[in-house]
Amino acid sequence: MNAIIPQALGPAPVPVIPESAPFTAAQRAWLNGFLAGLYGGVVGNASAGPPPPAAVAEDFPWHDPAIELEERLQLAEGRPLERRLMAAMAQLDCGQCGYVCQSYAEALASGAETSAALCVPGAKATQKALKALLAEKPVAAAPKPAIAAAPTGRPIRFVSAARLTGPGSAKDVRHVVLDLADSGLAYEPGDSLSLAVENDPALVEAVLAALGAAGDDSLRAELRCRRDIARPLDRTLDLLAGAARHAPHAAALRALADGEDGVEPADADLLDLLQAFPSARPPVADLVASLPLLKPRLYSIASSPLACPGRVELCVGVVQAARRGRLRDGVASCHLAFRATPEVSLLAQVQVSHFRLPADPAKPVIMIGPGTGIAPFRAFLQHLEATGARNRAWLFFGDQRGATDFLFREEIEAWRAKGTLARLSLAWSRDGDRKVYVQHRMAEEAPDLWRWLQDGAHLYVCGDASRMAKDVDAALRQVAMSEGGMNADQARDWIVALARQGRYQRDVY
Ligand SMILES: Cc1cc2nc3c(=O)[nH]c(=O)nc-3n(C[C@H](O)[C@H](O)[C@H](O)COP(=O)(O)OP(=O)(O)OC[C@H]3O[C@@H](n4cnc5c(N)ncnc54)[C@H](O)[C@@H]3O)c2cc1C
Ligand SMILES: NC(=O)c1ccc[n+]([C@@H]2O[C@H](COP(=O)([O-])OP(=O)(O)OC[C@H]3O[C@@H](n4cnc5c(N)ncnc54)[C@H](OP(=O)(O)O)[C@@H]3O)[C@@H](O)[C@H]2O)c1
Repeated sequence: MNAIIPQALGPAPVPVIPESAPFTAAQRAWLNGFLAGLYGGVVGNASAGPPPPAAVAEDFPWHDPAIELEERLQLAEGRPLERRLMAAMAQLDCGQCGYVCQSYAEALASGAETSAALCVPGAKATQKALKALLAEKPVAAAPKPAIAAAPTGRPIRFVSAARLTGPGSAKDVRHVVLDLADSGLAYEPGDSLSLAVENDPALVEAVLAALGAAGDDSLRAELRCRRDIARPLDRTLDLLAGAARHAPHAAALRALADGEDGVEPADADLLDLLQAFPSARPPVADLVASLPLLKPRLYSIASSPLACPGRVELCVGVVQAARRGRLRDGVASCHLAFRATPEVSLLAQVQVSHFRLPADPAKPVIMIGPGTGIAPFRAFLQHLEATGARNRAWLFFGDQRGATDFLFREEIEAWRAKGTLARLSLAWSRDGDRKVYVQHRMAEEAPDLWRWLQDGAHLYVCGDASRMAKDVDAALRQVAMSEGGMNADQARDWIVALARQGRYQRDVY
């Protein structure tokens, strides 16, 4: 930690907090990172720095999606249950569970939330870790199941969902255009749009048929608009198990609820369960009440209001997967791509984000957004063009094939030609013999990337959290090590400091 970095690498060396200083390891790491960031990443050898930040607010060293689950749990060892539960979450604060990581963990610890299966990006590994941690907790009385509130939001109008990927692409990505009309919604580049959508009516009809309730219109409305029928919770499995008249059905449902490996139907939706376990038919009202609420989906806004007044535009990847002979449609993406019409309004809200262009036009902007991660950067580039802001901008984009998957190609090439985009680095993963990803381009461009960062660049990452964002984070550390002469600890501290200064922002999902 106290290594002296050669002077030749840049400006004056910065102080390093000595190991003997009266700070915890986390405070020392924070301070060293802060200083490294302040001094442009060159860590030197000096003693004391400023006092730790105000009251050294509770730190969450595990709150980083780039850290593996095991390490996150270790970082939280010795902390109260709610913090260890938080460490088991995917650390994305993505809202898909209806909370952020901290509040979901607190709700589980207090018993206000009973399902350990809500962390979508954390998937089974998180669920297992949560269950193991919760097993330590005294059993509390079961809270009442959630009452389905009406979806909220302002009505906006669907305009179009043109395909952005070309013929022959393995992907179906849509340019969704929505008319804000009289909704009163306003947004800025970097914000996300939360959309409340309905379940696929055909899937709802199949569920009603399996329940023998095809004539029940109020049940139809409830299942269509308010309940998540794709991801049943443990409480639904327990309810079905309790009602099963056939012992093997009850046993299989219990095993599914316990998350045992290899039990079929794996990753079942409500229809799978009803079809696989016909002896399990609890009262319909109880079954419906056990289902989670249908949550709105978030989309990074892909437009600037200056370039698209009265409209909001999105870049939406259609989510579909075949399982057990049935195509499983992502609720919102398939609604937007296949079912939405201008005649039926959508309920929307703007989620204000931390993701913001620098106010200072002297600060360069580095944007890393493969796939649908391009969305907020289209908004940024529209905004830079519309305002005439002079920030130097560099985009790293990529996807499978250049010929079919270069989303917003014409606009991006026009920005490059005009200079709105000073640099463009493209990574096509399936055009050659080996995979080329954005982080490979970062490594190739390391000296320039480092120079831009030394010039005070703000670096943004958007797109896939589980693979891309982690690897980009690692690539950034590598740049700090190769170009800034840092060791691994210093590089990590430098990145932490960059993030705390708002110069490393991620919108990953
Ligand atoms: C901050 C933020 C920004 C985002 N920005 C974007 C963006 O710009 N563009 C973008 O495309 N996405 C974005 N997302 C992701 C987006 O919110 C959705 O998660 C994504 O579109 C999938 O939602 P969906 O409703 O289509 O799929 P879901 O219904 O949520 O389905 C998710 C998974 O469940 C499976 N599934 C669905 N139904 C069934 C079933 N019946 N049986 C079994 N499995 C099933 C699907 O196959 C899929 O794997 C963002 C997310 C966040 C948190
Ligand atoms: N967890 C998964 O397995 C998985 C898979 C697909 C999509 N998704 C989800 O789909 C959304 C985004 O999908 P998208 O289609 O817009 O983009 P995407 O799946 O992220 O693909 C965009 C580009 O990123 C590449 N890529 C794959 N792994 C990468 C890595 N580790 N580092 C850098 N680049 C990588 C892809 O290459 P290749 O595809 O050629 O490898 C592709 O060229 C997110 O919600 C994401 O979580 C998840």
